[in-house]
Amino acid sequence: MAAAATTVELVRRVVARSGGGAGSLLQVLRQVQAEGPGWLPVDLLQAVADALGVTVAQARAVASFYHFLYLSPRGHWRVLYSDNIVDRMAGSEARRAELCRALGVMPDTPDPEGVWVSTTSCTGLSDQAPGLLVNGRAVGRVDRDRMREIAALIAQRVAVEQWPGELFRIDMRIERRGPLLARRGAAGCVLSTASHMGAEGILAALTEAGLRGRGGAGFPTGPKWRACRQAPGSERIVVCNADEGEPGTGTFKDRVLLQGWADAVFEGMTLCALAIGARRGFVYLRGEYAFLAPALEATLARRRADGWLGEHIAGRDGWGFDIAVHMGAGAYICGEESALIESLEGRRGVPRLRPPFPVEAGYLGLPTVVDNVETFAAAALVVAEGAERYRAVGTQASCGSKLLAVSGDCPRPGVYEYPFGVQIRQVLEDCGAPDAGAVQVGGPSGTLVGPAGFGRRLAFEDIPCAGAFTVFRQGRDMLAVVRNFTEFFARESCGFCTPCRVGVPLLRDALARRAGGCPLPGEEALLARLEAALPASHCGLGRSASNPLRDLRRGFPEAWATGGERT
Ligand SMILES: Cc1cc2nc3c(=O)[nH]c(=O)nc-3n(C[C@H](O)[C@H](O)[C@H](O)COP(=O)(O)O)c2cc1C
Ligand code: SF4
Repeated sequence: MAAAATTVELVRRVVARSGGGAGSLLQVLRQVQAEGPGWLPVDLLQAVADALGVTVAQARAVASFYHFLYLSPRGHWRVLYSDNIVDRMAGSEARRAELCRALGVMPDTPDPEGVWVSTTSCTGLSDQAPGLLVNGRAVGRVDRDRMREIAALIAQRVAVEQWPGELFRIDMRIERRGPLLARRGAAGCVLSTASHMGAEGILAALTEAGLRGRGGAGFPTGPKWRACRQAPGSERIVVCNADEGEPGTGTFKDRVLLQGWADAVFEGMTLCALAIGARRGFVYLRGEYAFLAPALEATLARRRADGWLGEHIAGRDGWGFDIAVHMGAGAYICGEESALIESLEGRRGVPRLRPPFPVEAGYLGLPTVVDNVETFAAAALVVAEGAERYRAVGTQASCGSKLLAVSGDCPRPGVYEYPFGVQIRQVLEDCGAPDAGAVQVGGPSGTLVGPAGFGRRLAFEDIPCAGAFTVFRQGRDMLAVVRNFTEFFARESCGFCTPCRVGVPLLRDALARRAGGCPLPGEEALLARLEAALPASHCGLGRSASNPLRDLRRGFPEAWATGGERT
């Protein structure tokens, strides 16, 4: 089918900006959808495929993988309510139903010429829940008044670009600062220090500081960077993982770091480049955080102008490095580092077989460091403060501080920075919820803790936590919480391996029957088989999908026995 001239022109313009090549497929699809009709009709897919030298089947396969790419028209106003448990507790389901009523539309039913009201996994706005995306733009604090304002704007057919800017203001709520958030060094001075230290000095400092990755697994950062430096090859890559996962409970600490501490994150990436010998870096930014991209690009441009990116950084010969922002398109699994790399290469975000690990063969087969946003900011702090001062905070096995994204049933949600080793009880007191009934630490794949465990410590040697700290008041229906987590895993499973593709929906359905009071005969045996099978999944999503059920049965036997019959 020959594409219309306007389609060809749109694709030509977008491809010219992206640099072209199969690797830019995802970025080009995102852009042509945004600048074109709001979805991807077949002639547009064909034109993209022709321009990038891929088949239309490849273009379609990529488009079908990402939640925010559409193969059918969805409407002029696309309203996606965040559907994590915190949003639900803040009334998202009621607000969504009210919006549908106000506009006279059915939920989840696209109207090509009108409005589409549906849900998405999590928008990373749990400190200002409920949140939503409208045409990809984030809106927080969607209470009844705000819902009415949105309904009126849509009813009057006001284009989203003309909506009041105040609707799109996303605040940073910093409730507690430690060394990371208190740091306001002069731009670039860390890089001057790093230049004097050299690659070996940086690697030694990180190792001595005991810095461990903040993205979940807690792998030691110094040895990881060293492994990348020592991997064969002349080109290396630095990737900042800003896919900020752990939805279902809605973490947002990386969003806040990128909003207020982007320089520190870029410093960390730049000194990583010196340490491993890389010239190229990427920030992989989750699609839900598209609103951060212009400010990040502006910060990068300033750093280039000031000589902190580009050639001869800090006046050092041979230290050349630059960073590009690469947008995701709505796929939680792309936070898993090898899936992220697939996505960076323009493909579906399916986790790779490992080994080889990214430090040996990552982006385009090149040795690649993938680190969490907070890890890079912490690496910059190590270089700024020195290893000794850094490891004076925290515990023996968990050095330094940790950012927590606190949300849920508490009066003071926001980002809290604590020394590693802080007791759960302390965090609950600080956020105004000393009488909480439960806390989910580290998102759905983490640990559900009841009051008996509030003396436990957040540290790699007790309860590890990538960031999400979600508070549930006494009397919450904990089975509903676990169901929400399992629905999330089922929605976000990439479908690559059988235990997860088949097992997680079976688990989801069994929990729904349990909540409805009508489990099938032999259901317990089915659950036991699923709990035994899921750990054989290919990646962490499937492997941890039954954790919430395990914790519920252990810690909240009453909620399990009564099928969640509570408030
Ligand atoms: C399903 C899944 C999702 C993940 N999502 C994220 C994420 O959103 N952000 C992140 O930094 N790490 C995430 N990770 C962990 C990454 O795979 C990887 O371990 C991390 O980026 C390494 O960085 P670090 O050493 O700085 O922690 C995820 C892992 C899995 C299995
Ligand atoms: S465990 Fe799930 S998300 Fe991970 S590879 Fe298998 S199907 Fe995909």
